[in-house]
Amino acid sequence: MPNFDLIDAPQPEAAAHSRTFYLETFGCQMNVHDSEKVIGTLTQQGYHQVETEEAADLILYNTCSIRDKAEQKVFNRLNDYKKLTAQGKRFGVLGCVAQQEGERIFERAPYVSLVSGSASYRKLPEMLVRLELGEKRITGLDDRQTEETFETEFTTRSNPHRGYITIIEGCDKFCAYCVVPYTRGKERSRTSTSVLVEARRMADSGYTEIQLLGQNVNSYCDPERKKSFAELLAAIGEIPGIRRVRFTTSHPRDFTRDIVDAIDAVPSLCDHVHLPVQSGSSDVLHMMQREYTRDWYLERISWIKAAKRQISMTTDVIVGFPGETQADFEETITLLHAVQYDGVFAFKYSPRPNTPAVRMPDSISDEIKAERLQVLLDRQREIQRVNYSNYMGQVLEVMVEGHNQARGQVIGRTSQNKTLNFTASQPILPATGSYLPVRVTKTFPNSLVGEAVA
Ligand code: SAH
Ligand code: SF4
Ligand code: F3S
Repeated sequence: MPNFDLIDAPQPEAAAHSRTFYLETFGCQMNVHDSEKVIGTLTQQGYHQVETEEAADLILYNTCSIRDKAEQKVFNRLNDYKKLTAQGKRFGVLGCVAQQEGERIFERAPYVSLVSGSASYRKLPEMLVRLELGEKRITGLDDRQTEETFETEFTTRSNPHRGYITIIEGCDKFCAYCVVPYTRGKERSRTSTSVLVEARRMADSGYTEIQLLGQNVNSYCDPERKKSFAELLAAIGEIPGIRRVRFTTSHPRDFTRDIVDAIDAVPSLCDHVHLPVQSGSSDVLHMMQREYTRDWYLERISWIKAAKRQISMTTDVIVGFPGETQADFEETITLLHAVQYDGVFAFKYSPRPNTPAVRMPDSISDEIKAERLQVLLDRQREIQRVNYSNYMGQVLEVMVEGHNQARGQVIGRTSQNKTLNFTASQPILPATGSYLPVRVTKTFPNSLVGEAVA
């Protein structure tokens, strides 16, 4: 459905001269895809994207505040470029730091003119007009009230073969450590009809891979009540021309068995599930307010392991959550061994504003967090070394993502989301976006190497 807010927005009067913008994105895939929508919206408003801050009239940062380090990046970037304000350039802060810090950003960086969280991007055209009229402090800050998703007709996807579709925005789960419910607002899903229209349109224009996005993608709840998440997955996977469907991030609480059944039934659904566990200790999971136990999580893993196809599993882990004992941490390590993940994104717990965990006792020193993180990464590396070595000699289908000229290799990605760099003997290298079979000839803990099969 077209977003009438955008279409009916007043057109800037000062459209006569060309206006340029620079946009840098931090954070997760949701932010990357939001940026594609922001680019589309700005372009539709007569702006032209440029590659450097120096070349732009309007400098935008789409920010992330999941951990303190991520948040600091935007303030460092603003500091690095504030000299450009002397040339009349305007700054805007978008995304999760914008929503979290709100008007405080104007105090920390007075030269910023626009602060908008993702739940207010529908109002971007109107905010741009006000910016052009010379307003100095424009805010788009939603307070979890919004019921709408940020859909737009003007998304500018950067990759012509593989594209994102957001199916659900926001989060209502309120894990004790996490800013997302405060920065992204209430959980709200798009209708399955609108998702399928967009997916079909993408297939018609040559996309072969679709990645469904959501903070908790499998918490999807069709406002039309036509399709469950698993049914939506299957329907997208059956669209002619679509060869791969991915989805991220799945939440264990909403991970139902029919998702595995759909993967079994529809070959285009990729053999990969990212299912963040956060901790292997039920006590820590309880303190984190994850609302599942270790055994409950492992039951979902057993469903995935029982699938007809071998489904690759990856996860996220937080070490050093307040009150995490050495014994709790060791339970996380035993869980890694029990599951045998193909990849783990592990983070040191970072206290975040507004979250309940900030006030929890028994904080863990940075030294212990760093130590636990290192132990975890070392153990996981060994698990992956073995997992990846099992692919030796196998033939896997890859989608070509690019070329590494220096190494004379083609960069490919398997259905299981593994990088497979390979050599091809044909005089013409396989094009980006093409699919071909590749035999694995060497394995590493994080990637595979191979040769294209003639
Ligand atoms: N919705 C997803 C996760 C989204 S956030 C889920 O619930 O699984 C991405 C990851 O960032 C989380 O899985 C978690 O591992 C990490 N993370 C979130 N808040 C954090 C914090 N305060 N400190 C450290 N890592 C954090
Ligand atoms: Fe954050 Fe928890 Fe929501 Fe995931 S489910 S986004 S970790 S609050
Ligand atoms: Fe970061 Fe916001 Fe994504 S906090 S991880 S950009 S939802």
